[in-house]
Amino acid sequence: MIIAVDGPAASGKGTIARALAAHYNLPHMDTGLLYRAVAHTLVHGHGEAENEQDALAACSFDDALLADPALKGEEMGRVASIVSAHPLVRSALMKRQRDFARRKRGAVLDGRDIGTVIAPNADAKLFITATPRTRALRRHAEMQKSGSQMSFDHVLTDIRARDRRDAGRVTAPMAQAEDADLLDTSFLSIDAAVQRAIALVDARI
Ligand code: C5P
Repeated sequence: MIIAVDGPAASGKGTIARALAAHYNLPHMDTGLLYRAVAHTLVHGHGEAENEQDALAACSFDDALLADPALKGEEMGRVASIVSAHPLVRSALMKRQRDFARRKRGAVLDGRDIGTVIAPNADAKLFITATPRTRALRRHAEMQKSGSQMSFDHVLTDIRARDRRDAGRVTAPMAQAEDADLLDTSFLSIDAAVQRAIALVDARI
């Protein structure tokens, strides 16, 4: 069984994807980490994010990098959204994502183009969303907990810029697949969002 979970930054897709993986006993892949690993490799001296050839070379990063907490920061997310617009990067990382689902005989993958490009035949597809304000509030609270001083307005501006880049790129833009169920988490607790996600998936399988 393959479950595709897509949506913008801080929509709750990661939390929901992990909960679905636990509920259905499936392995989980956070595909954003792959783009973040490419960004990390470039930022640490292996080229320019804007240069497609540099970014392609950075796709051969070691899997061990995926466990590095340094990938999680805002700056890595921003650079990841620049490298993710390169078609050669997307096709290089596509194989890693498809191999994961195939090798494990099923998976929950979360990202931006899972339901549209990576796993168009997924058994269930969710597109998780929330208003930019709600997402910025969540991200801002998380960042404050980890000691960041960034203002709410700055976080909101960054979220909007990332949405524009991810939805506006030519290759595999962030989009809700035609056969995906939309789940707006703006006014839902985590528990309620997870229960709703499970109900939507149950109705598809
Ligand atoms: O989900 P996360 O914030 O970790 O993703 C970081 C960036 O990686 C996104 O803003 C997006 O540009 C890119 N990405 C993507 N396709 C995916 C997952 C992430 O383009 N499937």
